[in-house]
Amino acid sequence: MTTNLFDVTDKVVLITGGASGIGKAMAAAFVQSGAKAVVGSRTLEKVEGAVEELNKLNPGNEEGPVAAGVALDVCSENSVERAINKTMDLYGRLDVVINSAGIMVKKPTVELTAEEFNMVHETHVTGTLRVCQAAEKIFREQHDGSIINLASISSFVDLVQVTAYAAAKNAILGLTRSLANEWAKHGIRTNAIAPGFVPTDINRKMIEGTDRGRRIIEHTPMQRFGTGDEIAGAAVFLASPAAKFINGHTIVIDGGYLASGIGDSFAPWAMPEEA
Ligand SMILES: NC(=O)c1ccc[n+]([C@@H]2O[C@H](COP(=O)([O-])OP(=O)(O)OC[C@H]3O[C@@H](n4cnc5c(N)ncnc54)[C@H](OP(=O)(O)O)[C@@H]3O)[C@@H](O)[C@H]2O)c1
Repeated sequence: MTTNLFDVTDKVVLITGGASGIGKAMAAAFVQSGAKAVVGSRTLEKVEGAVEELNKLNPGNEEGPVAAGVALDVCSENSVERAINKTMDLYGRLDVVINSAGIMVKKPTVELTAEEFNMVHETHVTGTLRVCQAAEKIFREQHDGSIINLASISSFVDLVQVTAYAAAKNAILGLTRSLANEWAKHGIRTNAIAPGFVPTDINRKMIEGTDRGRRIIEHTPMQRFGTGDEIAGAAVFLASPAAKFINGHTIVIDGGYLASGIGDSFAPWAMPEEA
């Protein structure tokens, strides 16, 4: 029997896109729960700033700091390999990977270029696959590992004029189920978290102080946006012994938005092009 169902002490988690927004909130939640976090993204100054903040949350012990950073581009196989190797060099193990790297292109679909579509897919879907494949080798050897992918409300309902993003986030559900099915025999659980609307760098301009944001809040039963902290707890849960039979599922955290059953909160066919 497990003594503490929610214990993630000393687990090592690598978080792509972990230097800002939801990924950083997840890193903070792990560090505050006694785990070690490695955060990675393309912008090194941002990564260094995040690591400084994270290490203040938990001063660590004689073994050294509890958070570290790595320059990471999930669109490059070499970069992903380097990030995994650096994590292993620093902490000697890897228990959890969280795929939180993401970009967004918002424009009418007629204007969306194949390059833009592919870039969004490459970052969210192929990027996630790359990180999962690289982690799988370690997880398989340990016969233990937890993969947490970032899905979205747009995995379930349309959010207007973010077609590439929606297609990618739907693919994340399929990817999550496939890995859950294929790798469970190696002790690897794969799940996803689908956050509702949390103002971060990826969407702030679209939803903060805009009509779109107002409509979203109106149609969210809890009448507000979420925060990174409110998403992060589910990641700690999914990595903990309490979730050891949870595999292939997506936890939606949206203040009730999906339950309200209202797509993107307004009719796209009645919307002016610039909305
Ligand atoms: N915020 C929401 O309402 C919401 C809702 C549902 C789902 N999500 C998902 O949650 C995840 C985190 O988003 P967020 O809201 O926290 O936005 P965010 O603050 O913009 O975080 C995304 C991070 O991804 C990094 N990134 C982008 N491309 C990358 C690449 N090629 N390689 C490595 N890192 C890369 C960015 O840093 P660099 O530019 O430095 O690389 C950035 O720090 C995303 O997958 C997003 O789609 C967000």
